Amino acid sequence: MAQVGPTTGDEYSPLLADIVEALGGVPTLPVIATRLLATIDDPSSSAGDVARLVAGDQALVANLLRMANSAYIGFGRQISSVTDAIVLVGLNGMRQMVLAISVIDVFRVPKVGEALDYTNLWRHSLNTAAAGRQLAPRAGLNLEAGFLCGLLHDLGKILLSRAKPDGYARAQMLACSEQRMIHQAELAVFGFDHGEIGAFAMDTWRFPSQLVRSARHHHCPAPGLPDGAGVAMVHVADAMMWDLTGVEAMGRPQISDEAARFLGVREAELSDLRAKSEAEAKSRWIALITG
Ligand SMILES: [Fe+2]
Ligand SMILES: [Fe+2]
Repeated sequence: MAQVGPTTGDEYSPLLADIVEALGGVPTLPVIATRLLATIDDPSSSAGDVARLVAGDQALVANLLRMANSAYIGFGRQISSVTDAIVLVGLNGMRQMVLAISVIDVFRVPKVGEALDYTNLWRHSLNTAAAGRQLAPRAGLNLEAGFLCGLLHDLGKILLSRAKPDGYARAQMLACSEQRMIHQAELAVFGFDHGEIGAFAMDTWRFPSQLVRSARHHHCPAPGLPDGAGVAMVHVADAMMWDLTGVEAMGRPQISDEAARFLGVREAELSDLRAKSEAEAKSRWIALITG
């Protein structure tokens, strides 16, 4: 029987159960992240409650300040405390930073025997996140949402590779030998792709539907569907940044005309958008994975 996501109510393939079982359940996020998100979402809690909770975890404080300073370079001041960060980015911005930091933390390094190149994947994810920030206003989204949707769109590749390292290596080989796009090869091997399993995990974590659906549909955007604007944004960002880290032997994603039209992205703008996103990823974001 198809599974239904707790937040979106979207249906997922019954075949996912095998992967979730091999993972020993959908991986959990750090307890501090779960508590923080609950506090941020509770209308009766204040910015002070959030700041106090964050202050109990020094590693999280350090990461949050680093990220806030990267995100808000150009505001002319250094953010040196969590309270400052909350004032500047707001609780919504905090929620997005906590999500980004905790997911990167859980999935930073591969387990023994995995063929997936994590460094390359995170690099691509941060490039796509930077492009998501550039494109977010055209999708009617804020910059943080653009960043986070881009960052997490390929998370499902990690879940597939962790659950079935041999199967994932087979999918990668198939994509290379037949010049297929990786999500098509995954579909042939597993019966679903990284978009669907990534979306399922984020739906289980009760992430916002925008994140869930932009991960799920980024290889087949349909701007008219619910959350379609975010899907179109991630689709264009992903395909635009693919060249920088993509495995050449695999099939290359093409930008859908419909998605580009929807966002008002013209062919002539692409190289400029790509260069800006790449520069931003290099100067601000790559440090999040390199330490
Ligand atoms: Fe993808
Ligand atoms: Fe991607």
